[in-house]
Amino acid sequence: MEDKKKEGRYSRIYSQLEALLPKTEDPLARMASICAVLHHKMDHFFWTGFYLYKSDKLVVGPYQGPVACQELEKDKGVCWAALINRAPEVVRDVHAFPGHISCDSRSKSEITLPVFNQKQEIVAIFDVDSDCLDSFGEVDRIALTGILELIHKKY
Ligand code: SME
Repeated sequence: MEDKKKEGRYSRIYSQLEALLPKTEDPLARMASICAVLHHKMDHFFWTGFYLYKSDKLVVGPYQGPVACQELEKDKGVCWAALINRAPEVVRDVHAFPGHISCDSRSKSEITLPVFNQKQEIVAIFDVDSDCLDSFGEVDRIALTGILELIHKKY
């Protein structure tokens, strides 16, 4: 999708989420709504969801898409890389990422972003897999960072 078109789509999704999310402060409920909306509105979002960071483990949380790994092997793969670096990872070709954990062979590119609570602790990693190569870039990183901030926003 072209960057301009993508920006427009993200902006409409943001507005929709801003209307939906204040109805509860529960972060899990907000995560569930975020992945449902993104998964159904963005092209090529093949797997869209959260891995929750608990007891130094990444365990699967709310998601949309094919069945995924329950728990991710520690310090390996794209989700752990975002956690360790406390920063998003954009992977244009998952097969070129050493240690990539494949939950479904149809995934070709991926973006992962940390979810911070209000104390700046990481509580989850948001992960999107695409069935196309090179689906994610700066536009996605910026828009998804803004959307994830809504999880702990006080209204
Ligand atoms: N590919 C991820 C694992 C999660 S699945 O893509 C849903 C990783 O390397 O951490």
